[in-house]
Amino acid sequence: MTIQWFPGHMTRAKRQIEEKLKLIDVVFELLDARVPQASRNPMVDEIVGAKPRLILLNKADLADAQANAKWIDWFRSFGREALAIDANTGTGVKDISGRVRALLKEKIERQIAKGMKPRPARVLIVGIPNVGKSTLINKLAGRAAAATGDRPGVTKGQQWIRTGGDLELLDTPGILWPKFEDPEVGFKLAATGAIKEEVLQIDEVACYILRWLAAEYREALVERYNLADLPPELPDIAAAAGVLEEIGRRRGCLAGGGHVDYAKAAGVLLRDLRTGKLGRITLEAPVI
Ligand code: G4P
Repeated sequence: MTIQWFPGHMTRAKRQIEEKLKLIDVVFELLDARVPQASRNPMVDEIVGAKPRLILLNKADLADAQANAKWIDWFRSFGREALAIDANTGTGVKDISGRVRALLKEKIERQIAKGMKPRPARVLIVGIPNVGKSTLINKLAGRAAAATGDRPGVTKGQQWIRTGGDLELLDTPGILWPKFEDPEVGFKLAATGAIKEEVLQIDEVACYILRWLAAEYREALVERYNLADLPPELPDIAAAAGVLEEIGRRRGCLAGGGHVDYAKAAGVLLRDLRTGKLGRITLEAPVI
């Protein structure tokens, strides 16, 4: 899904999340483990405020396991609890409720001290489009329970979903917008499929990603496309375009006159990246 974010949308989305915050105990901030920073809304702290929050690095199955661990440490260094999960298969999902209990420990203890039986923690899942909000809701619910038509501006009755455990979810997730203004963020989001590639030049996205892959995942790149002559580094876009051309030639992505069709070659690379053919890859490192 593509969303065109205009200031009006943002204000409405922010207001809708703020309304829902009144109903809940804890926010699950869903990020894409491959791009935890780029998939993060820059205003999330302001929107969520002091409400207890658990960061979930979703699609961890596609991301580099070592990088997942580094990102989790990075978030913890800011006092934010984070967990790597795969909402599709459910890996890591069973650890969520323990983390929620830890986050809400004082509240639960207060309830017990008053002789009350702690009720299930009420949860709102927030995140940018395509990060896996509905998949996670359905996985936690054990059935197809996420509300559809969950775009900002679509107001409808919301339902609580019992997870069978000690969580209760709002069926309508909160949709945050990514920060499109930064071109690098746009490249990363297009590469992971969070925004439609047509929004950007696909060959430009591929060249950007190639420079990262050549530096961080060189072996995978060389092996997948048989690039024995890959230079030690790709200092600029022109150098990356040379490698993209080589990939296109090897994969038979040709236009008329025997020239390489760069868009086709970019499509091959980005498809391979998204489907894990290049291995588990993370596209950004935490800045420490
Ligand atoms: P949203 O509600 O946040 O918009 O996201 P949604 O759950 O619809 O998930 C978007 C896509 O991401 C889905 O793929 C879904 O299967 C995939 N996905 C969600 N969680 C995970 C995960 O942990 N690992 C992996 N590998 N994939 C995950 P899709 O239906 O094929 O959509 P698309 O990829 O064609 O956009």
